[in-house]
Amino acid sequence: MELKDKVVVVTGAAQGLGKQFAISCAENGMKVALADINMENLEKTRRECEDKGVLAKGYELDVTKEKNVEEIYTQVVSDFGTLDATINNAGILRDGLLVKVKDGELIKFSLSKWQAVIDTNLTGVFLCGREAAGKFVELKKSGVIINIASVARSGNFGQSNYSAAKAGVSAMTVLWAQELAQYGIRVAGIAPGFTATEMVVSLREDIKDKFTKSIPLRRFAETSEMSDGALFILKNDYFTGRMLEIDGGARI
Ligand code: NAI
Repeated sequence: MELKDKVVVVTGAAQGLGKQFAISCAENGMKVALADINMENLEKTRRECEDKGVLAKGYELDVTKEKNVEEIYTQVVSDFGTLDATINNAGILRDGLLVKVKDGELIKFSLSKWQAVIDTNLTGVFLCGREAAGKFVELKKSGVIINIASVARSGNFGQSNYSAAKAGVSAMTVLWAQELAQYGIRVAGIAPGFTATEMVVSLREDIKDKFTKSIPLRRFAETSEMSDGALFILKNDYFTGRMLEIDGGARI
């Protein structure tokens, strides 16, 4: 896909990877529709994108709310006149062990933490992917859907909810590519390794050290190394149904 003047939705664009995806798209001449629950930070991303000389609009969006997602994708098409791509990036962490014993007492992983991550990281991607696909079909456009998974999709210690959601996102990426190819829609994903965003920087120092030692390249990724992956997916018209594993060689 030629990127200039194409319209992309980026969810979770207020900070971290989403912000970097938005800025990289803007640097490449794409018009950006930025969505997040954090409107204060989103406005900062919007201004940075606008400074690149492209149209940039911010939208308050909770990806877990079906009606909200439907309304925002409709609003984006109305505001920009079209839609060419979505980067389904919004995500959260709520880690914990399945069960543990503390002071002789059995503590179970809470259903609310499980559900919060499933709602945001799995259902959110489902809803945004579904709405984008629907718009591409209605507009008769060959769009691109990029889903953000994680190296944790293979199963990571203390992340029942997160790993399950990211495995689900990876599976949906493959099957959506199969289902949507008939409309000229491509679907691909990125499974990032540990990347230096707020989500990771806020982890305990000893945990960060442990993670760094487990990565063959012995460092966290820069956010720009992930956005390079997103640009590759957007541009390469023969890339679909696959996940890019950008993880410094880390295996979980
Ligand atoms: P982050 O915590 O820095 O940013 C996440 C953004 O999503 C925030 O702006 C937040 O407000 C937004 N958000 C959260 N819940 C939302 C909701 N319900 N609706 C709309 N927006 C919502 O996280 P980071 O690190 O930028 O992660 C982005 C994506 O990359 C996530 O899907 C994460 O799982 C994935 N990822 C991150 C890795 C890392 O090392 N940072 C590694 C692997 C995957």
